[in-house]
Amino acid sequence: MEPFSTIYDSENEILTNYTLHEEKKISDMKGYFINEEAREKIEKEENKVVYKVYKQDVPLIEGELLHCLTCIQPGNVDGQFFMTKGHYHLNEKCAEIYHCLKGDGLLLLQKEDQIKILEFKPNAIAYIPAGWGHRTVNISFTKSLVFFSVWPAQSGYDYERTMKEPFQSSIVKDKESYKIIRR
Ligand code: F6R
Ligand code: ZN
Repeated sequence: MEPFSTIYDSENEILTNYTLHEEKKISDMKGYFINEEAREKIEKEENKVVYKVYKQDVPLIEGELLHCLTCIQPGNVDGQFFMTKGHYHLNEKCAEIYHCLKGDGLLLLQKEDQIKILEFKPNAIAYIPAGWGHRTVNISFTKSLVFFSVWPAQSGYDYERTMKEPFQSSIVKDKESYKIIRR
């Protein structure tokens, strides 16, 4: 493949020249929030966008790197902040790097009985070691959380595992801030 570059358009919160754009709406997040009834209500009323992903395709072969921009909207479901679905990599030997560009968030990480919650603010560069499940949460009431990720092209995604072994912590509103609760 040919070398290429993309531009992060910070004002519009997109990666220009993307080849793949995904939008996860409230209707795509069935079973991910604690209060499923509240999620259904929002789905019927407005079906808001929870997060967007802009990705560049590369060959899914050893040595290549995938990269993307994720933008999580501000919002909550019955007080539980908007977040990504979260996943493990199918290939447990694949790590990942997240670089926060904008907003205010938390990165939830877990591996078996180990849990880590990292602050995720602009300029934070988080290293997600191989084998750790990862989910990002936008804890701002007004701003999007925007971050850039880079990971091996052969990682794959395991979303089912996060259903069988759900994230142990949830991030909910607490007055003007947030608190961490056990799920
Ligand atoms: C890729 C990765 C991120 C996420 C993205 C959306 O390995 O971790 O690029 O894919 O932030 O989150 P999910 O995939 O959990 O819907
Ligand atoms: Zn990942």
